Amino acid sequence: MDILLSIIYLVATVTFIVGLKLLGHPETAKKGNSTAALGMGLAILGAIFLSKENVPNIIYILIALALLIGGVIGWLIAIKVEMTKMPELVSLFNGFGGASAALIGLVEFGNITTSSEATIVATIISGVVIGAITFSGSLVAWGKLNGTLKSVVKLPQYNIINNLFIIGIIAFSAYLVIAGIGNPVIAYALLALGLVYGVLFVLPIGGADMPVVISLLNSLTGIAAAITGVLYDNKVMLVGGILVGSAGIILTVAMCKAMNRTLGSVIFGNFGGAVVAEGVNKTLGTITNTTPSDSAIMMNYATNVIIVPGYGLAVAQAQHVIHELEELLTKKGVNVKYAIHPVAGRMPGHMNVLLAESNVDYSLLVEMDDINPQFNNADVVLVVGANDVVNPAAHNDPASPIFGMPILDVENAKHIIVNKRSMNAGYAGIENELFYNSKTTMLFGDAKAALTELVSELKGM
Ligand code: TAP
Repeated sequence: MDILLSIIYLVATVTFIVGLKLLGHPETAKKGNSTAALGMGLAILGAIFLSKENVPNIIYILIALALLIGGVIGWLIAIKVEMTKMPELVSLFNGFGGASAALIGLVEFGNITTSSEATIVATIISGVVIGAITFSGSLVAWGKLNGTLKSVVKLPQYNIINNLFIIGIIAFSAYLVIAGIGNPVIAYALLALGLVYGVLFVLPIGGADMPVVISLLNSLTGIAAAITGVLYDNKVMLVGGILVGSAGIILTVAMCKAMNRTLGSVIFGNFGGAVVAEGVNKTLGTITNTTPSDSAIMMNYATNVIIVPGYGLAVAQAQHVIHELEELLTKKGVNVKYAIHPVAGRMPGHMNVLLAESNVDYSLLVEMDDINPQFNNADVVLVVGANDVVNPAAHNDPASPIFGMPILDVENAKHIIVNKRSMNAGYAGIENELFYNSKTTMLFGDAKAALTELVSELKGM
């Protein structure tokens, strides 16, 4: 039995690694997802039916019930969720992962005695604390992503308060490990401290910096799962957790690079930029409106066009019509590319996934560092539902919350057409002087409607 279980865990581990590899490209991502899910299914069945302990039948019934209820809820949510709500769902799932680790830690806490090994006590305590931080932090992130928690709440000296708080938790945990204290009241106190820190950690993070926090929480979920794997000597859980934890850290570092922040500033505060005063509306000049017909003429006679997709493209579900526009322009001899900012949209790779859905050729998607030098040669840049990722305040305004974040340098193009519905701000909640630039014209309207008109104008030319 033991050997069979080890083989099953090994197969599952391989499917996780192969799955991750396949997830690295939009064309193979679906296959990667199902490969890893199959491995996870196998590992769950193996853990239930092949583990050594004599398990009473009632436990099997409870596990089956829990799997059924959880499976049905997860399946219903997954088939119903809109693409634009996906990042919120990922945040919630992160939170549930953390909550599971915290609950397992709480259960095991009661088994701690003065003769328990220090490594086991440290593992249990880490599970409770990291799980609790991940749970409450992810719930706050979820609230921020769905707009429920709009304002950035910052206590005075929040950096110092947050850092003292986490140092306090670490010191208290170290004392518990040394003393081998397994009192349930202390377990709940630790849980509460972790929950409060999770809220304190995520609440002050301002607009555009959320992607870094989300990937860090993702990584913490993996670490929490790996801790549980150590606790139960379950190798597949350990490997799965390590894979999620390390992939999350790699993503966090990539996000930090994209936002021009350091990992240290994320973990120890001093991060999140200034708070934007409500109602601030600097006089930035006047805007120039355009129409689908004028925009079509401009693009029809261009040699190089760069399309900048943003969150609004996903909201409007305009990925198919933008592909139609790109194909039409290409047929007319226009050289078209898409400029992809690493944090455009609301989740890592959001624009890649969205455009892959409409079968845009992957080679046309150009990453920020490669496309930025090409804006000088662009006759027209069409910005569709993007705002923060093209906001020059990131370069020009040291008081701006996005100052220092690398952006797509669309200003360097000969002409910029911006499609959005109104003059409303993007995620960071700030004005964008690009819209007032003398080279910019505003094509107001829902992206799907505006692009459909643009396509029909172009077809008539
Ligand atoms: P945003 O700055 O959020 O701007 C999106 C713009 O789309 C809005 O200004 C909105 O203006 C417009 N819009 C919304 N619905 C539209 C529709 N139906 N048709 C046309 N336009 C529409 O988006 P971005 O430039 O992609 O930047 C992403 C932001 O989200 C960054 O600040 C980033 O840090 C943050 N963020 C990213 C992530 C990840 S991992 N990618 C996660 C969390 C947060 P109107 O309302 O006027 O139409």
